[in-house]
Amino acid sequence: MASYLEHYAANLPRTIYLYVTDHCNSNCVYCVFRMSNAKLKRSEMSLSFIQDVWRQSFILKGGIRLDIPAPKIVVQGGEFTIHPEAVEIVRFFHDEGLTAILLTNSVDLDLVRPVAEWVDDITISYDGPAHDVSRGVKGNKTSIHAMLAELTGSGKHLTLQMTLGPWNLNLEAIEHTLDLAARTGCQLRFNVASSQGLLGQGSYVIKEAQLIDVAHFLEGANSSCLSIENVRYVTKVAENSLPHHCFSTSFYSTIMANGDVLLCQGLDYTEAITGNLHQSGFDAIWIMAQSKRAQYSHCRACTLSCQLMGDFNLIEEVKELHG
Ligand SMILES: C[S@@+](CC[C@H](N)C(=O)[O-])C[C@H]1O[C@@H](n2cnc3c(N)ncnc32)[C@H](O)[C@@H]1O
Ligand code: SF4
Ligand code: SF4
Repeated sequence: MASYLEHYAANLPRTIYLYVTDHCNSNCVYCVFRMSNAKLKRSEMSLSFIQDVWRQSFILKGGIRLDIPAPKIVVQGGEFTIHPEAVEIVRFFHDEGLTAILLTNSVDLDLVRPVAEWVDDITISYDGPAHDVSRGVKGNKTSIHAMLAELTGSGKHLTLQMTLGPWNLNLEAIEHTLDLAARTGCQLRFNVASSQGLLGQGSYVIKEAQLIDVAHFLEGANSSCLSIENVRYVTKVAENSLPHHCFSTSFYSTIMANGDVLLCQGLDYTEAITGNLHQSGFDAIWIMAQSKRAQYSHCRACTLSCQLMGDFNLIEEVKELHG
């Protein structure tokens, strides 16, 4: 398995965030999509469009360097599972030998189940005891517990993603979610809610002292469900000391449902656009964006949960590579 560093040196993306649809069956108070309801013209990508984009691209299929695998694809939205061709889309990636990771709200189990069959890696968003309040759907917490009961022991890699905000910034909520992750064999990944992002502005305020308490608790938690990088990321956000290096633009590419290819998910939308897949192929867009990507390697314009902002070992390695 090629490392982040090898992808970086070869100038190839490691993960593609594929926003297949802008539609959703939930109503989360803090969601970047919900906040942008008025601005966003709702789009959805068809299976045939996705097939064309992937078949025309050497980068997306991993055909540029045989020793470096094709980028993983995080299928999401909006809510990916409500897309009418969701099963066919993950089946296409599976048949092409590509790795898709499902990121889902797990609201409608009849939609999640058939999609989950075709992916080996599933991330479920779960915001703790007050989940249904922050996510705006009654019964979502119950459906998540039911989905976890079905998936635990299935051999799939499972992650719970907890987005931290005023609705769950307390140690009881963290302990509850950590306990759930341990009981169901999930990794637990934290994501600090960003009030500034791609598509909107939030109106909530995160109290620094509470985030620092949570970070200190996590540092001492010593749980195999947590990754050191992710805990350090929470600490750095709490201390407002994220490094001035962000490798998101080098390792990740974001494709929106309308075909726009974005540098990252933290910049203002118009600044982030590097092209549109209805006009050019992915490879041409990626190559043409090289100098723009380099421009943002020292960016700290957002506090999004780019795991790479928290990957301090990687930052040291890349600095060494540059001498
Ligand atoms: C945009 S959703 C799309 C996938 C799916 N609908 C879900 O909720 O898992 C992906 C993740 O983004 C997180 N998210 C939404 N708004 C956010 C914000 N303002 N800041 C940080 N994360 C946010 C959600 O909690 C969720 O875990
Ligand atoms: S389920 Fe996901 S996309 Fe839908 S409103 Fe919530 S965070 Fe946004
Ligand atoms: S820090 Fe800058 S480059 Fe990195 S994700 Fe945020 S806006 Fe994008």
